[in-house]
Amino acid sequence: MKKVYVGMSADLIHPGHINIIHEAAKLGEVTVGLLTDKAIASYKRLTFLTYEQRKSVVENIKGVANITPQTTLDYRDNLIAIKPDYVVHGDDWKTGIQAKTRQQVIDTLATWGGELIEVGYTAGISSSQLHESLKEVGTTPDIRLKRLRRLIAAKPVVRVLEAHTPLCGLIIEHAEAIVDGAKREFDAMWSSSLTDSTAKGKPDIEALDLTSRLQNINDTFEVTTKPLIYDADTGGIPEHFAFTVKSLERVGVSAVIIEDKVGLKKNSLFGNDVDQQQASIEEFCHKIQVGKRAQITEDFMIIARIESLILEQGMDDAINRAKAYIDAGADGIMIHSRHKSPAEVLEFCSIYRKLEKQVPLIAVPSSYNSITDTELAEAGVNVVIYANHMLRAAYPAMNNVAHSILQHGRSEECKDQCMPIKDILDLIPGTR
Ligand code: SPV
Ligand code: MG
Repeated sequence: MKKVYVGMSADLIHPGHINIIHEAAKLGEVTVGLLTDKAIASYKRLTFLTYEQRKSVVENIKGVANITPQTTLDYRDNLIAIKPDYVVHGDDWKTGIQAKTRQQVIDTLATWGGELIEVGYTAGISSSQLHESLKEVGTTPDIRLKRLRRLIAAKPVVRVLEAHTPLCGLIIEHAEAIVDGAKREFDAMWSSSLTDSTAKGKPDIEALDLTSRLQNINDTFEVTTKPLIYDADTGGIPEHFAFTVKSLERVGVSAVIIEDKVGLKKNSLFGNDVDQQQASIEEFCHKIQVGKRAQITEDFMIIARIESLILEQGMDDAINRAKAYIDAGADGIMIHSRHKSPAEVLEFCSIYRKLEKQVPLIAVPSSYNSITDTELAEAGVNVVIYANHMLRAAYPAMNNVAHSILQHGRSEECKDQCMPIKDILDLIPGTR
């Protein structure tokens, strides 16, 4: 019997997949190389179903004899191990990021006389279409909450952008870029204390209450599906933090970040220019433990934010705190810096990555903005948060328009700074 290899993601199984397996089974015994979550996330979105769930679906499809994990988009390792007579694939991979993969498959098969068979694209259905439809249906708090841990496990870097309104959330939901042939999107939203407070005209000193911020998050969740990380400032007193954790979890927030400061909290980017105090290691560990005891699900994450570099307490202090916070149960460590250069964050990363016990590492490159998220990931960072850029972009634009209208007594002069009326009417589906 001839050996046939079919590589697939099989996240949303549709008649196109069945057709390919059906055609493959006509040629011989079919082994499905099921792409792992990491392999898929390397070139497109995170899957809806986990590897194990997808495997249990595919092994029950008629015509599938074996399943083997394919851990990269590149087929070659599996092909060399299996030496199939045929690889069967849809004919929709001749362009884009998969074109290179396709050529490698052809060349590898040629070394033992194997052949690539391409099956015609099944019209009217595709995974991308199904994905878009699912986005319209929305999500549940439970699915959204779990998604952050899955993203951290599957992606080389999780990209997070600040959302202070549901409209920001929509931009984050849909923005896409093709970089080196691979699709790039934001993975999650950041609920920033700075931009939430600023949008309400209040200072970033924990003056905004949880109810008001949760209302905004609920509104954002109504029109988006991506996970959210919540900036809880110091977390307040431990007894209150326990309630915050439960409230966030209930609406489907994936993680909370608390910073190790006490007293009247000021924004970190001031550093020691204002009076700010760091909490003792003991009291902050206690707060982490109280939060961990309060959470209901296994998936919610409590992330400890270290302010030692912000407050010029030195690298040793930052690393000692990381160790203590991890021992106290923190699910992630955020290291913050206000330097223009990424050097101290990179130094932290290199020491951190040698620690015996590690949890995901989060960085917020607001001031050290020359380093790319990919470079941070190479240094060991798992999650990169762009913490305030949507508000910083919007405010100057709005301010300019307001002044222009006043200056000219009409809006014609600023029309090019405003989106066309037709576009704003069409922006939100259902307005028309
Ligand atoms: C925020 O976004 O509120 C933060 C990050 O805490 S930063 O402003 O960079 O300190
Ligand atoms: Mg903040």
